[in-house]
This record gives sequence, C-alpha cells and structure tokens, in this order.
Amino acid sequence: GAGVLASMLMLSSSVFAQTVGFSQIGSESGWRAAETTLTQQQAKERGIDLKFADAQQKQENQIKALRSFIAQGVDAILLAPVVATGWDSVLEEAKEADIPVILLDRMVDSSDDLYLTAVGSDLVHEGNVAGQWLVDELGGKDCNVVELQGTTGSSPAIDRKNGFEQAIKGHDNIKLIRSQTGDFTRTKGKEVMESFLKAEDGGKNICALYAHNDDMAVGAIQAIKEAGLKPGEDILVVSIDAVPDIFQAMAAGEANATVELTPNMAGPAFDALAAYTKDGTMPPKFIQTESKLYTKDDDPMKVYEEKKDLGY
Ligand code: AHR
Repeated sequence: GAGVLASMLMLSSSVFAQTVGFSQIGSESGWRAAETTLTQQQAKERGIDLKFADAQQKQENQIKALRSFIAQGVDAILLAPVVATGWDSVLEEAKEADIPVILLDRMVDSSDDLYLTAVGSDLVHEGNVAGQWLVDELGGKDCNVVELQGTTGSSPAIDRKNGFEQAIKGHDNIKLIRSQTGDFTRTKGKEVMESFLKAEDGGKNICALYAHNDDMAVGAIQAIKEAGLKPGEDILVVSIDAVPDIFQAMAAGEANATVELTPNMAGPAFDALAAYTKDGTMPPKFIQTESKLYTKDDDPMKVYEEKKDLGY
C-alpha cells in the first residue's frame, strides 16, 4: 500500500539523490585542479548534488566548511585534508551528526573510526618508486640530490620524503644535500630551485632533483634552464603525479621520470558511499589507487594526449 510505496521512495531518494559536501584544499597544482573537475563530473553522473568549498590552502577554512556542511545536514562529506593533524574535533562532530566522512588523497592522524574510508595512493610507496628509479638510473654513480617537498605537514610531503629516503638508504653514492618545501606549486618550485642552484655553484654540484609533485618539477626545470644547464641531462628530474605537462617536458628530454597519482579519487569514494548508503556495507578503511612509474621510454607525447582527455 501507500506505506510500502513511501518507504520505497525514501530508500531510493536516500540512495540516489544525495547531497555531498566537498572540502577541497585549493588549486595549488594541475593534479589538484583535475581532481576537482573529476569529482564534479563523477557527482553529476551519479545525480549527486555536490556542495563545493575551496579552502585556499587553509585548514581553518576546511574546518569551517565541514561545520557548515554538518549544519546543512548533508548526507556525506568528502575531505581532502591539507595537513595531517588537527582534525579530531570536527570529525567527531560529523560522527555525532551521523554524517559519513570520506578522505580523498591525503591522510589524517586521527583514529580511523572517525571516517568511513580513505581513498588514496600509498604515499610512502610513491617516494620509494621515485627513489628506486634514481638508484637504478645512476648505477652506482655519485650523485648529489636536491629535494622539493610538498606542503609542510601534509601527508604526501611527509610520506614521499620518507619513502624516497628509504629507497636511497645504503646507497652511499647518493647524497641528499638540500631539501625545502615548494608548497606543491610551480612558482615556489622555481623560486626554491633558484636558491638551490645559487647555493650549489650555479647548479654544477647538483646531479638530480626529486620533487614531491610535477608542478614543482616544471617550475624547477625553468630555473635550471635559466641557470644555463640542461634539465634531464645535467640535472636528472624525477617527480610525482603524472600530469600532462610533465610528459611534454619528458618528450623534450627535460624530465626523466614521474610516478602516477590518479586524480579520480571520487569515483571509488562515491562507489563506497553508494554501497554504504544502500545496505550499510562497510568499505575497507583504505581504498588504494595504483602508483605507476613513467619514464621517457613510455612514449610521453602519446601519454600527454591521453592525459589531456582525462580531466586535466
Ligand atoms: O595530495 C596529493 C598532492 O597534492 C599531489 O601530488 C599534489 O600535486 C597536490 O597538490
């Protein structure tokens, strides 16, 4: 009768017509912009009403956005946390309001019962893959490495540093001589690389750059060229993300390797949310995306074209 119909309607609306708040970090990199585009696209395809909040790199803005989503009574929250610490209170508030939170691409230091699941890559592994690439490429040759770190206190900056250091450990030919944050941006990557070059005999003392993302690498490549050196040859360049621009640089011989991070974190997040909403299926606490290594032998212009069609 009417009661059955009403409950069916309620069920279908709770499954299909969801309102989801998305607290995004900002638009510091090409990868981040693509993640935003793809999240909006994935929401649209699923009929989800996505409330988007850009935090402009500030955790306090993200906390405010989360509180506003909770006050509005959204059905779920996606959070890409700018830094790892300081989330306990607001995540507890979401939990008390019975609003599931899904973490995208970065992790938090909070207890894992404060969120439904996290979609992301193994960030330590990414750093490891980058470091291992360098170890293999050098084949025992002496090499001074400079590092551009991501945003201070963010899980990718912490983990990618650790992963790289693990990989080069015990290889005495490789020395990490300088390491500083470039905030995951092109501008800062260029600026910090300029200071590294200046401090290291115009760059003559540097054999490789490890950047925690491609955007910083692209900025640094510019700095290396302006210093009169050849990026990709005089200074090897390895980074993370696999955004289209790094493949262009690779095709020009100016970058050597990158580790892919998929910008489609929302797809698996919405799938997990749909299953949870439908019948309470608990997703695993961590849904891991792949980390693939690309080098200049992987037909970079072809990959560039493919990537251009993927939300970048
Ligand atoms: O959290 C993922 C990182 O954030 C990406 O590697 C970087 O480009 C972005 O800014």
